Amino acid sequence: MKFGIISDIHSNLEALNKVMPILINEQKVDKIICIGDIVGYGANPNECIQIVKKNVNYCVAGNHDYGIVRKTPINNFSKPAKIAAKWTRKKLSNNNYEYLQLLPLINKIPIWNLMTVHSSPSSPSNWEYLLSIEKVKNEFNYFNEKICFVGHSHQPIVFEKCMNEINSFTAKNGLDFRTKDANKYIINIGSVGQPRDGNPQASFCTFDTKNNRLKILRVDYKIENAQEKIIAAELPTILADRLSMGK
Ligand SMILES: [Fe+2]
Repeated sequence: MKFGIISDIHSNLEALNKVMPILINEQKVDKIICIGDIVGYGANPNECIQIVKKNVNYCVAGNHDYGIVRKTPINNFSKPAKIAAKWTRKKLSNNNYEYLQLLPLINKIPIWNLMTVHSSPSSPSNWEYLLSIEKVKNEFNYFNEKICFVGHSHQPIVFEKCMNEINSFTAKNGLDFRTKDANKYIINIGSVGQPRDGNPQASFCTFDTKNNRLKILRVDYKIENAQEKIIAAELPTILADRLSMGK
């Protein structure tokens, strides 16, 4: 089974329209997983949800998805994020609002020994960022599957636990990796629509259970078009600027 895995689309239709055909037509994935934050920040929330509804087989909620549909507080969001959340709330169709409300916090796919959660296995609704080995150390105790895929930080990284040792592998320019049967993994696949690791290219992932091959892929997309739409929608300009900085 070959999975395509996406996360943190953040209403960026240009990025999603670049990534989705690559997964389906070039990578020929069998199933697609989304790890949340479909909306927030960008200018095309409904369009992005429609694409996810049509193509994604398993999806969990991110803090922006739940914040926008009032299932998690947004008072700790940054000012631009709060403005974008309120803007998105007004734009969403009733069906898409309900779709976000019904998303689960965790997906387990036991047959393939996988789990997905937007933030952390230990507290899925507390929206923790797993950025360091110190931070993930304890998280391996909170799932039994071989791999837990996460999003949220918008920074692709593989944490590998071998016995009691944890190593990490970043993926600023992509990554071609083989998971080992004896080890456990927490894998952040990066962000489709708002990368924050200094590389503005969209980040996403494929994982083939046949040979345990994990690829984190980076691709260019029409950033200027996404930026123009953010400006035209009168969303905060920082949300457009940061796309070309990859921050
Ligand atoms: Fe996000």
